[in-house]
Amino acid sequence: MSRCDRMVDVGRRRFMSGAGLAAAGVAVTSITPIPAQAATGAARVDYPVNRLANVRDLKLNEPLNVSYPDANAPGVLLKLGKLVPGGVGAESDIVGFTTICPHKGFTLNYGAGDRTMNCPGHYSRFDCEAGGQQIWGQATQNLPQYVLRVDDKGDIYAEGVDELLYGRLSNVL
Ligand code: FES
Repeated sequence: MSRCDRMVDVGRRRFMSGAGLAAAGVAVTSITPIPAQAATGAARVDYPVNRLANVRDLKLNEPLNVSYPDANAPGVLLKLGKLVPGGVGAESDIVGFTTICPHKGFTLNYGAGDRTMNCPGHYSRFDCEAGGQQIWGQATQNLPQYVLRVDDKGDIYAEGVDELLYGRLSNVL
Protein backbone atom coordinates (compact mmCIF):
# COMPACT_ATOMS: atom_id res chain seq x y z
CA MET A 1 0.00 0.00 0.00
CA SER A 2 1.43 3.38 -0.94
CA ARG A 3 1.70 6.25 1.52
CA CYS A 4 -1.09 8.06 -0.27
CA ASP A 5 -3.41 5.00 -0.07
CA ARG A 6 -2.71 4.70 3.66
CA MET A 7 -3.63 8.33 4.23
CA VAL A 8 -6.91 7.89 2.33
CA ASP A 9 -7.67 4.73 4.33
CA VAL A 10 -6.97 6.40 7.67
CA GLY A 11 -9.04 9.38 6.67
CA ARG A 12 -11.98 7.16 5.68
CA ARG A 13 -11.86 5.23 8.96
CA ARG A 14 -11.63 8.43 10.97
CA PHE A 15 -14.60 9.88 9.12
CA MET A 16 -16.72 6.75 9.62
CA SER A 17 -15.87 6.69 13.35
CA GLY A 18 -17.67 9.96 13.78
CA ALA A 19 -14.69 12.23 14.23
CA GLY A 20 -14.97 13.21 10.62
CA LEU A 21 -18.69 13.88 10.96
CA ALA A 22 -18.06 16.03 14.03
CA ALA A 23 -15.37 17.89 12.15
CA ALA A 24 -17.81 18.40 9.31
CA GLY A 25 -20.26 20.01 11.71
CA VAL A 26 -22.70 17.08 11.87
CA ALA A 27 -24.10 16.22 15.29
CA VAL A 28 -23.37 12.50 15.57
CA THR A 29 -25.99 12.00 18.26
CA SER A 30 -28.70 13.16 15.84
CA ILE A 31 -28.17 10.21 13.50
CA THR A 32 -30.94 7.73 14.16
CA PRO A 33 -32.21 5.03 11.83
CA ILE A 34 -35.55 5.75 10.16
CA PRO A 35 -38.10 3.04 10.93
CA ALA A 36 -38.91 1.07 7.78
CA GLN A 37 -42.61 1.84 8.10
CA ALA A 38 -41.98 5.56 8.29
CA ALA A 39 -39.57 5.39 5.38
CA THR A 40 -42.02 3.60 3.10
CA GLY A 41 -45.23 5.12 4.42
CA ALA A 42 -44.19 8.62 3.37
CA ALA A 43 -44.93 7.86 -0.29
CA ARG A 44 -48.45 6.54 0.33
CA VAL A 45 -51.71 8.35 0.67
CA ASP A 46 -55.32 7.34 0.86
CA TYR A 47 -56.74 7.25 -2.64
CA PRO A 48 -60.30 8.41 -3.21
CA VAL A 49 -63.06 5.84 -3.50
CA ASN A 50 -64.57 6.53 -6.93
CA ARG A 51 -67.41 4.73 -8.68
CA LEU A 52 -66.15 3.87 -12.16
CA ALA A 53 -68.99 1.85 -13.70
CA ASN A 54 -71.46 -0.99 -13.13
CA VAL A 55 -70.77 -4.61 -14.04
CA ARG A 56 -73.60 -4.37 -16.63
CA ASP A 57 -71.57 -1.72 -18.49
CA LEU A 58 -68.83 -4.24 -19.28
CA LYS A 59 -68.62 -6.56 -22.27
CA LEU A 60 -66.33 -9.54 -22.32
CA ASN A 61 -62.81 -8.60 -23.44
CA GLU A 62 -63.78 -5.03 -24.45
CA PRO A 63 -62.05 -2.17 -22.60
CA LEU A 64 -64.28 0.45 -20.99
CA ASN A 65 -62.59 3.84 -20.72
CA VAL A 66 -62.51 5.36 -17.22
CA SER A 67 -60.24 7.65 -15.26
CA TYR A 68 -58.81 7.25 -11.78
CA PRO A 69 -57.88 8.73 -9.33
CA ASP A 70 -58.73 11.95 -11.16
CA ALA A 71 -59.75 13.18 -14.60
CA ASN A 72 -56.09 13.49 -15.66
CA ALA A 73 -55.43 9.78 -15.18
CA PRO A 74 -57.06 7.73 -17.96
CA GLY A 75 -57.52 4.00 -17.62
CA VAL A 76 -59.70 1.05 -18.54
CA LEU A 77 -61.88 -1.57 -16.93
CA LEU A 78 -61.73 -5.06 -18.43
CA LYS A 79 -63.91 -8.14 -17.99
CA LEU A 80 -61.60 -11.01 -18.84
CA GLY A 81 -63.95 -13.97 -18.33
CA LYS A 82 -61.66 -15.90 -15.99
CA LEU A 83 -60.24 -15.52 -12.52
CA VAL A 84 -57.26 -13.17 -12.61
CA PRO A 85 -55.02 -11.45 -10.01
CA GLY A 86 -56.83 -8.47 -8.52
CA GLY A 87 -60.06 -9.50 -10.24
CA VAL A 88 -63.41 -8.58 -8.67
CA GLY A 89 -67.05 -9.42 -9.36
CA ALA A 90 -68.85 -12.77 -9.34
CA GLU A 91 -66.15 -14.39 -11.47
CA SER A 92 -63.21 -12.41 -10.06
CA ASP A 93 -62.51 -11.44 -13.65
CA ILE A 94 -62.92 -7.64 -13.64
CA VAL A 95 -59.73 -5.60 -13.50
CA GLY A 96 -58.68 -2.04 -14.14
CA PHE A 97 -55.43 -0.43 -15.28
CA THR A 98 -54.02 2.94 -16.13
CA THR A 99 -53.58 3.45 -19.87
CA ILE A 100 -50.51 5.65 -19.46
CA CYS A 101 -47.28 3.77 -20.07
CA PRO A 102 -45.07 3.81 -16.96
CA HIS A 103 -41.97 4.26 -19.15
CA LYS A 104 -42.48 7.68 -20.76
CA GLY A 105 -46.19 8.26 -20.72
CA PHE A 106 -47.42 7.17 -24.14
CA THR A 107 -51.05 6.05 -24.31
CA LEU A 108 -51.39 2.27 -24.28
CA ASN A 109 -53.65 0.28 -26.59
CA TYR A 110 -55.50 -2.88 -25.60
CA GLY A 111 -54.79 -6.03 -27.58
CA ALA A 112 -57.88 -8.24 -27.23
CA GLY A 113 -56.14 -11.20 -28.90
CA ASP A 114 -53.62 -11.77 -26.15
CA ARG A 115 -55.16 -9.49 -23.53
CA THR A 116 -52.22 -7.16 -23.24
CA MET A 117 -51.73 -3.43 -23.03
CA ASN A 118 -49.29 -2.29 -25.72
CA CYS A 119 -47.20 0.86 -25.99
CA PRO A 120 -46.67 2.57 -29.37
CA GLY A 121 -43.74 4.55 -27.92
CA HIS A 122 -41.08 1.95 -27.23
CA TYR A 123 -43.19 -1.21 -27.47
CA SER A 124 -43.51 -2.23 -23.84
CA ARG A 125 -46.22 -4.84 -23.30
CA PHE A 126 -48.18 -5.66 -20.14
CA ASP A 127 -50.20 -8.79 -19.39
CA CYS A 128 -53.70 -7.91 -18.14
CA GLU A 129 -54.30 -11.49 -17.02
CA ALA A 130 -51.20 -11.35 -14.81
CA GLY A 131 -51.82 -8.16 -12.85
CA GLY A 132 -50.26 -5.91 -15.49
CA GLN A 133 -46.93 -7.70 -15.43
CA GLN A 134 -44.49 -6.31 -17.97
CA ILE A 135 -43.68 -8.96 -20.56
CA TRP A 136 -41.54 -6.95 -22.95
CA GLY A 137 -40.01 -3.54 -23.53
CA GLN A 138 -38.25 -0.65 -21.87
CA ALA A 139 -40.56 0.12 -18.97
CA THR A 140 -39.05 -0.58 -15.58
CA GLN A 141 -42.20 -1.39 -13.67
CA ASN A 142 -45.42 -3.30 -14.15
CA LEU A 143 -48.57 -1.53 -15.26
CA PRO A 144 -50.34 0.16 -12.35
CA GLN A 145 -53.49 -1.81 -11.53
CA TYR A 146 -56.54 -0.45 -9.75
CA VAL A 147 -57.67 -1.83 -6.43
CA LEU A 148 -61.35 -2.51 -7.15
CA ARG A 149 -64.47 -3.41 -5.20
CA VAL A 150 -67.96 -4.36 -6.40
CA ASP A 151 -70.98 -3.66 -4.20
CA ASP A 152 -74.24 -5.59 -4.06
CA LYS A 153 -75.74 -3.42 -6.82
CA GLY A 154 -72.89 -4.26 -9.14
CA ASP A 155 -71.29 -0.84 -8.94
CA ILE A 156 -67.52 -0.99 -9.43
CA TYR A 157 -65.40 1.25 -7.22
CA ALA A 158 -61.69 2.00 -7.43
CA GLU A 159 -60.02 2.43 -4.06
CA GLY A 160 -56.35 2.61 -4.91
CA VAL A 161 -53.55 1.85 -7.35
CA ASP A 162 -50.81 -0.70 -6.75
CA GLU A 163 -47.92 1.06 -8.55
CA LEU A 164 -46.77 4.61 -9.12
CA LEU A 165 -48.65 6.32 -11.96
CA TYR A 166 -46.53 7.90 -14.68
CA GLY A 167 -45.92 11.60 -14.16
CA ARG A 168 -46.65 11.52 -10.44
CA LEU A 169 -43.70 12.18 -8.17
CA SER A 170 -45.02 9.75 -5.60
CA ASN A 171 -48.27 8.07 -4.72
CA VAL A 172 -49.21 11.33 -3.07
CA LEU A 173 -51.96 12.87 -5.18
S1 FES B 1 -43.36 5.10 -23.40
FE1 FES B 1 -44.07 3.06 -23.36
S2 FES B 1 -42.29 1.87 -23.67
FE2 FES B 1 -41.57 3.90 -23.70
